[in-house]
This record gives sequence, C-alpha cells and structure tokens, in this order.
Amino acid sequence: MAQEDVFKKLVAHCKEYGFVFQSSEIYDGLSAVYDYAQLGVELKNNIKKYWWDSMVKLHENVVGIDSAIFMHPTIWKASGHVDAFNDPLIDNKDSKKRYRADVLIEDLMAKYETKMDKEVAKAKKKFGETFDEAQFRSTNPRVLANKEKMDAVHTRFVEALDKNDLNELKQIIIDNEIACPISGTKNWTDVRQFNLMFSTDMGSTSDGSSKIYLRPETAQGIFVNYLNVQKTGRMKIPFGIAQIGKAFRNEIVARQFIFRMREFEQMELQFFVRPGDEMKWFEKWKETRMSWHKALGFPDDKYRFHDHDKLAHYANAATDIEFKFPFGFKEVEGIHSRTDFDLKQHQEFSGKKIQYFDPELNKSYTPYVVETSIGVDRMFLQIMAEAYKEEKIEKENGKVDERVVLKLPPALAPVKLCVMPLVKKDGLPEKAREIINDLKFDFNCQYDEKDSIGKRYRRQDAIGTPFCVTLDHQSLEDNTVTIRHRDTMAQERVEIANLYEILKAGVSMKDLFKKLK
Ligand code: GAP
Repeated sequence: MAQEDVFKKLVAHCKEYGFVFQSSEIYDGLSAVYDYAQLGVELKNNIKKYWWDSMVKLHENVVGIDSAIFMHPTIWKASGHVDAFNDPLIDNKDSKKRYRADVLIEDLMAKYETKMDKEVAKAKKKFGETFDEAQFRSTNPRVLANKEKMDAVHTRFVEALDKNDLNELKQIIIDNEIACPISGTKNWTDVRQFNLMFSTDMGSTSDGSSKIYLRPETAQGIFVNYLNVQKTGRMKIPFGIAQIGKAFRNEIVARQFIFRMREFEQMELQFFVRPGDEMKWFEKWKETRMSWHKALGFPDDKYRFHDHDKLAHYANAATDIEFKFPFGFKEVEGIHSRTDFDLKQHQEFSGKKIQYFDPELNKSYTPYVVETSIGVDRMFLQIMAEAYKEEKIEKENGKVDERVVLKLPPALAPVKLCVMPLVKKDGLPEKAREIINDLKFDFNCQYDEKDSIGKRYRRQDAIGTPFCVTLDHQSLEDNTVTIRHRDTMAQERVEIANLYEILKAGVSMKDLFKKLK
C-alpha cells in the first residue's frame, strides 16, 4: 500500500477510535488545530510522563517548572523572536495557496533522495546478500545523477539561507521548475518574511492595553526563571530545568495532520553549563535523547540525526532527531547549543544581573545552555504511525481474517487491560467488575461485555490494549481466567491472583527507563 494511503488510514483511525478530533469540527473545523479525544489524551499523558520522569526523576540535577503562557512582551524582543522569528513565504498566483519557500525546496531535495533510495532498494532486491550499498551509491549512474542535482540545490539553498537572500530562494524555485501542487503552475509571487507569533492585547484600552504574545516556545519561560530556580533550588552547574507546555505559531502552511499545528505542546530542557563545556554536553544530550527514542523499540533505521543547514540566531551547534514518517524523514526533536545568548539578552533588556558564581573556579559567569526540545504532538504522531499495522491472520479453517492492531509500546498504551465476561449472566459480569475494582488503581482498565469475544478482541487491538482477560464459568470455580496477548494473540490460563504481577511486568515504564543511557 502506498505510504500516503497508510497515512490517510491512520488519520481516519485516530478519529474513528477516539484519539484525535479536528478542533471545532461542528463548525467545519479550525485549520491546524486539533483536540485530543478520550484515548488520545491518555496516550499523550503517557508520552509526557515518559519524558518528564526520564528528565526530572532520573536526573538528580534536573528540576521542572510550569511557567505561564503570557509573559512580559519585552521578553520576545530580547529573545529575538519579534525581529527574527520569521518564515519565508511565497504565494502561487493561480491557486492563491501560500507556501513556505524553504519547505518547497526541502521537498524537492527529499524527492531526489527518495529516487536514490528507490534505486538502492531495487538493487538490494536483485543482488540479495551480496549487495554492497556503499559501493552502489558511489558508482550507479542514476544514483549519482540524482545526488548531483540534490547537492547543487542544497549548496544554493544553504547560501541563500545564510545570506537571508529571499530573491535567491525564489530563483531556486524558478530554476528547478517547482510547481504548485494545487494549480500545477509556476506562477509565483516574490518571497517575503512572515512573523510566526500570535499576539493579543492585555488589559482594557481605557487604562492602556499592551500587546502581548502567545509564546512560540516554552524555553523563554525557563530562561527568565533561571535565577529564581538556581537560587531557591540551590542548583549547581551543570543543571537543567525542564518544562512541558503549550506553544503557538501562526504557521504559514499547516500540513500533515498533527505534524504542524498552530497550537501544540513542547517538552523542553534547558541545561546550564560552564562556558567551554557546551560541546561536550551537546554530544551527551544527543546520545541521551536518541536512546530515549530508541528505548521504545521501533526499528533503529527509522531514526537519524540531521545537522542544521542554517543555525538559529541563538545557536552555535544544532541537530534534529528525525523520524521516518509515512511522508518521509522529518524532525521530531531539536537539540541546540544555545550559547549564553538568551541569558545575556535578558540581562541586558531587564537590567538584572543574571550570572552564576562557580565556587570551584571562584568566579562568576553567564552560563551556556544546551537545549533539547521535542513536540508532544509529533511524538504522538510518530508512535501512532509506527504502531499502526494491518495484519492478515490465518484461521484454523483455512480462511484468512484481517485485523488492525496498534502495536503501541505497552507502557504508553491508553488502556492496559480489558476484562470480558464470556456471557452477561451467571455472575460473570460481577466477577469481571471485581477484577477491575482490584486493578484500576494501578492500571487503566476497560470492561466489555458486548458482541462475540472475537469482535471484542478486535476492538481492543484497534486501540492498542496489550492484554485482554476473558472470564468463563470455570473462572467462578477455580479463580482462573484466559489472558490474551495483543501482539502474538497467544492465550493462556492464569490465576486471577497473578494478574497484578503479569500486568506490572508487561506494561511498566520502568523497563523503558532501564534501557536509557
Ligand atoms: N525552543 C526551541 C524550539 O522551539 P523548534 O525546532 O522550533 O525549537 C522544537 O521546535 C520542536 O517543537 C520541534 O522539533 C517539533 O517537534 C515541535 N514543533 C515545532 N513547531 C511545531 C508545530 N507547528 N506543530 C507541532 N510541533 C511543532
């Protein structure tokens, strides 16, 4: 099945089973804004817990905060967002559709890459075990031709970004004959800068209102609290401040479901270090963060680092952790070495001294910062995309059945256990409720007595429930039940008294934490 079709099915699945709804749907929706539904919010909370505990609980020198969305407007002047938080925008005159010029060019480069990957995949299939990918990539004429085209675009693109040359960005689009996907024409406007921050007014106009911004990143809430946390928490460098919260960006092009939203959530860490130590910590956090992703058990080749072509105004090193979505490798997390830019700017604009006295060096300095910043929503999409599977099941009678199963990491699954009485009578529902009443303090449980057991299994597979338990008449006699495992569909008879331990071993987040570097 084509990857676009898989993605469409995934989006439909998210709605049908209560994971994600379009915001304001009964009013025809609000573009690039989404609501998390009854199961979506559970998965999202579990992702946040996995991140928060891995940062705050597992690191002695990391603490968390929850700062306000509204902040003093000068903060955004100091941070550079008022002047420089822009995207290059271009319109197609025929379709009247608006695009990010940089994304159009990146998509073109991704097309060349896909063409190369297809050649490699074809050759791999043909030559099997003996295939030498590195040699093929460096000698195959079709791969080399595409690489040459991609590199040429890349060189011009990086130069244009570095020089902030909007005319050159347009010229790259023209020279490479990039067409509007809607109208199919190459009738483009000039490229112009577009600030991504939303603003609103605080206070009533009569007593003087002021323009404030909805934060486009949570990071600034951490920087402006640096002194408060360092002093009240008696934190010693190196130390980190973590935060999870909403961020808002007036994205020019909102695409790919919850991948690019106008209201989204970030999980950010600012790690304060001695000047000169930042590259060591940058490498360390790259490794730590990649191991957090890989602990979830998805294939290693779905992840890669992608170093930035153009550094943000505050960074001296930056890389992204990219994940292979159905629509290609895309950024899930950014890791930046932010130097002392933000703290110094806030020191200058606020007039307050923001420094650290290092007792070991016996001197004061402005700390340097390494940041890790991941979008909760992108992580959610990544997990759903990787977990969604359509499987064929051979039945005993020779027929083939199909199931849709979400192979979610059990620790993140919204529901851990579904308890099902075989029939709705003879005391089985009551016994099932007893099991739930016992386990519900530790695990999210559901009760289901409707339809055949097969249909009930399918419903739970579709929402990713790792365990189902069925009670029959034997259960009333010997306190045993049949437990069914989601991924293998294997079933076994176990004692009700053992369910707690089985679930604990099967869905605990501890196992994920133990894998972390
Ligand atoms: N404080 C640094 C910062 O905000 P960023 O690369 O702009 O860096 C960090 O954003 C992460 O936030 C991204 O890797 C992505 O996961 C998420 N993110 C950014 N813009 C987003 C959007 N419009 N919708 C959903 N997630 C977004």
